[in-house]
Amino acid sequence: MSDSVKISYKEKEFTYPVIEGTMGDIAVDISTLRSDTGLITLDEGFKNTGSTESSVTFLDGDKGQLLYRGYSIDELAENATFTEVMYLLLYGELPTASQLDSFNKELQENCTVNQGVKDMVNAFPTTAHPMSMVGAISFTLSSFYPEVGEVKTPEEFDKAAMILLAKFPALCAMAYRRTNSLPINLADPSLDYVSNFYQLMFKNDQNIEISPSIVSALNKLLILHADHEQNCSAATVRVVGSSQAGLSASIAAGVAALWGPLHGGANQAVIEMLEDIKKDGSGLQFWVDKAKDKTHAFRLMGFGHRVYKNFDPRAKIIKQATDEVLAQLGIKDDVLDLAKGLEEVALQDEYFVKRNLYPNVDFYSGIIYRALGIPKEMFTVMFALGRLPGWIAQWKELRIDKQAIGRPRQVYIGAKTRSYVSLDKR
Ligand code: SDX
Repeated sequence: MSDSVKISYKEKEFTYPVIEGTMGDIAVDISTLRSDTGLITLDEGFKNTGSTESSVTFLDGDKGQLLYRGYSIDELAENATFTEVMYLLLYGELPTASQLDSFNKELQENCTVNQGVKDMVNAFPTTAHPMSMVGAISFTLSSFYPEVGEVKTPEEFDKAAMILLAKFPALCAMAYRRTNSLPINLADPSLDYVSNFYQLMFKNDQNIEISPSIVSALNKLLILHADHEQNCSAATVRVVGSSQAGLSASIAAGVAALWGPLHGGANQAVIEMLEDIKKDGSGLQFWVDKAKDKTHAFRLMGFGHRVYKNFDPRAKIIKQATDEVLAQLGIKDDVLDLAKGLEEVALQDEYFVKRNLYPNVDFYSGIIYRALGIPKEMFTVMFALGRLPGWIAQWKELRIDKQAIGRPRQVYIGAKTRSYVSLDKR
């Protein structure tokens, strides 16, 4: 007999079923609450509200556990490639060797973008933020590739997902090239996914050397960002998709949500914060105290998480990878030492400990990106490149399951009913 929750209201009692997820997560199903009682729930920021059932990603904030389709992020980051994880998120199973080979071949066959998209990129001022370009191009992509707009059948979905995933490296790299006044590189279908992205970003006249440590670091970083259940941008993609908007338009909405400094924009904000701390010279405790001071809007960027009340497992992996990549590339970045010092001071501070504020995925990622030559204005674009398969997998789940349009209710606190007053009487 499964559990239930009883609500007593106006001398009546109402019972609602408790449902349990496959990993033991529990929820009370209140889908008939309003018709039963006239009540709605109010939950600012949806801190206690589940918007859907999903089979894509599971995370346990207390244990610091993250699974993609049941596979732990540690094992995937260690053993898989990013395109393997794309396949897993989209289709629910790890691909066989031949499935992965065909998937990779199709990504390579679709990796170029047409002149119309390039003309659009060149229409942007070089002062544009790369995220504004990636968002704009995502939104209009169905004008250049209609397949990524209207998607009704599983076959149409496969085609649309493939086009978006295959072309996104070029879209992201073009934003970098334009904002650095560099000529746009051509995609190279002979290369694997991350190597093609790297040459799109950095190839100049001579050939480009892409070391195995760069390929490995990029695969790992993109895997770690690939999905994260109902985070702000994935929830946005789902709500927009629930109106039957096209796939690329829904992805553009996810790009917009990700850009916020409290979400995906935090990786850029972390590096800017660390550079300010380094320049300012007031010492780490000063900044930790400033982050605690409610009279300041300043927060320790890269710290805290809505769900993780323990270490973000991704932050641990990225922190270790940062040491490895900098050693392999022979790079010394004193901002890394600053980040480690800040983590140490904060994690000994009662304010952070009491609120379970630990480093999140964004705290160290910017340091690796910098070591790979990626400028801070591109950090959130890197997050979008990683998160794309997760957004698409969640959009597919929403549309294939034909879920209802996402339309929350509210509690109105404005003016009561009143009559119009003519202009001459105001
Ligand atoms: C991502 O949701 C996801 O899964 C997101 C993500 C993903 O993969 O998609 O993991 C990616 O967005 C990671 C988070 C990146 N953002 C940052 O690093 C920005 C800094 N962090 C915060 O702004 C904050 O921690 C959030 C936005 C991440 C979470 O905010 P919540 O859950 O709404 O928590 P809250 O704002 O209610 O904070 C609770 C308390 C408050 O203090 P009190 O009111 O209890 O006194 O903790 C404090 C906050 O002031 N607090 C911080 C803090 N984060 C929370 N104080 C100082 N510095 C911080 N970073």
